[in-house]
Amino acid sequence: MKHEWSSKFTFILAAVGSAVGLGNIWKFPYITGEYGGGVFILAYLFCIALIGLPIMLAEVALGRRGKQSPVNTMTQLSLEAGGHPAWRLLGWSGMVAGCLILSYYSVIAGEVLAYSFRASSGAFEHQTVDGIKGILNSLVSDPEKLLAWHTIFMALTVLAVAKGVRGGIEKTVTFLMPALFILLIFLVFYAMTTDGFGQAVDFMFTPDADKFFYARSELGQYLLDANGEKIFTWKPMMVAMGHAFFTLSLGMGAIMMYGSYLNRHVSIGQMVLIIISLDTLVALLAGLAIFPLVFANDLNPAAGPGLIFETLPLAFGNMLGGTLVGTLFFVLLFFAALSSAISLIEPTIAWLIESKGIRRIKASVMTGIVVWFIGLGTIFSMTGTTLGDIFQPLVGNISLNSGLFKYNFFQLIDLLTASIMLPLGGLFIAIFAGWVMQQDSTEREFSFKNRFVYPSWQFMIRYVSPFLVAIVFLNIIGIF
Ligand code: PFF
Repeated sequence: MKHEWSSKFTFILAAVGSAVGLGNIWKFPYITGEYGGGVFILAYLFCIALIGLPIMLAEVALGRRGKQSPVNTMTQLSLEAGGHPAWRLLGWSGMVAGCLILSYYSVIAGEVLAYSFRASSGAFEHQTVDGIKGILNSLVSDPEKLLAWHTIFMALTVLAVAKGVRGGIEKTVTFLMPALFILLIFLVFYAMTTDGFGQAVDFMFTPDADKFFYARSELGQYLLDANGEKIFTWKPMMVAMGHAFFTLSLGMGAIMMYGSYLNRHVSIGQMVLIIISLDTLVALLAGLAIFPLVFANDLNPAAGPGLIFETLPLAFGNMLGGTLVGTLFFVLLFFAALSSAISLIEPTIAWLIESKGIRRIKASVMTGIVVWFIGLGTIFSMTGTTLGDIFQPLVGNISLNSGLFKYNFFQLIDLLTASIMLPLGGLFIAIFAGWVMQQDSTEREFSFKNRFVYPSWQFMIRYVSPFLVAIVFLNIIGIF
C-alpha cells in the first residue's frame, strides 16, 4: 500500500511533529545546563547548520526516491547506483536505534503524562522548591508508577501507529503543534517577569569555554587530575553533535521514512529549511522559558533529566491560572512526544509490513511489546532499584565506568543512540548521498531553482559534514 501526505503542509507538520518533542523541551535545556550554557548552544547551532541541514536534505531526497521503509529504500538505491548491498545495514541500524530511543522516550513521556494529571489536580499550587522536588521524587523513585505511565504511553503509541501514519499523525499535529508553540511563547513572557531572566540570557548566550571543555562533577565543580589540573574533554562536543541529530530526528531513517510519503513535486529545500528553523526556535524558546526559573529559584542548571519537572511546576504553581496553563502545557508536550514516538517506530513497522507481510496492527503491537520491555531498564535506572527487586537481574545493574564518567542503563542507551548510532548513521547517509548515488539522481530529486545551491549541498555532504562527524568520533574514542 503506497500512500502520500495529503499536502506538503501535512509533510511539514509531520516532520516538525517528529523533530519537535522531548528533545527540544526536556533534553535540550538539561544538557545545556549540564555543559555550561553558551558554548554548548553555539556548538549545537553549528552542528545543526553544517551537519544537520545537508543530511536532512539527503534523507528526505533518499526517502522520496526510494518510496519504501529505510531498509528497502537503501537496498533499492544502492542497487540502482551499483553500490554494495550492505548499505541496507544503514536501515537496520536505524530501526534498532529508533526502538532503543523509544524505550526511554516512552518513560519520560509517561512522566509528562503523569504531570498533566498532577497539574490538573492543582498539585503545584503555591508549592515551594522542596514541595516540587518531593512531587518529582515520589514519581521517579516508584518503579510501579513509572511502569504504569510507561505502559500507558507505549499503548497509545501503538494505537496511533496501528491506525496508519496519516490517520495517526496528521490530525494530531495540525492543531496541537501550533498550540504548543503559542504556549511556549507565553511561558517565555512569563519568564521575563521573573528576576532570573537576565541571568538566563547570560547563561545561554555568553560563551564560557571552560565550562564546556573541562570535565565537571554533577554539582558543577571542575574535576582535577593527579597534578591538580582541570581535565579537558570532548564529551560535551559529542553530546552537542549527537543532540543535533536527535532533535532533528536524523541518522536513523525517521525523516527518510517521512520523505518516502512525499509527493514528487514538492520542493525539498524549502521544506527542510522550515522544519529546521521551527525545531531550533522551539528549543531556544524552551531554554528561555526554563532557565529564568532555574536562576530565580536558585536551582541547579545541571540538575539533569528532572530539570523541567522541577522548574515549570514552580512557575505554574505561582502564576494566575497556573493550573490551567500547566495542564495545557503538559498535555501539549505529551502530544509532541507522541508524534515523535510515532516516527521512531514507523521505520520498523513499515519494514515488517513490506518485507514480512505482517499486518499493520500486528506489527505495531509486536514492536511495541519489545520496546516496552527494553524500557524497563530505564525505569530501574531511574528508581535506583537494587538487587533482589523484581526485574533487577535483567537490567537494573548494567552500568559502565569509562574512567571519568559513570553510566547507568538509561545514560548508556542515550549515549549509544544519540551520541553514537545517530551520528554514525548520518555519516553513512552523507557518504552514500554524496559519493555512491549518481549526481543525476540527487540533482533531479532536489530540483533546486538557484544553480549555486546544488553544488553547495554537494560540497557539504561530501566533505564538510562527514569530516566534522569523523573528527568528533576520533576525539571521543579517548573517553572510553
Ligand atoms: N526529534 C525528537 C525530539 O527531539 O524529541 C526525537 C526523535 C524522533 C529522535 C525521531 C529521532 C527520531 F528518529
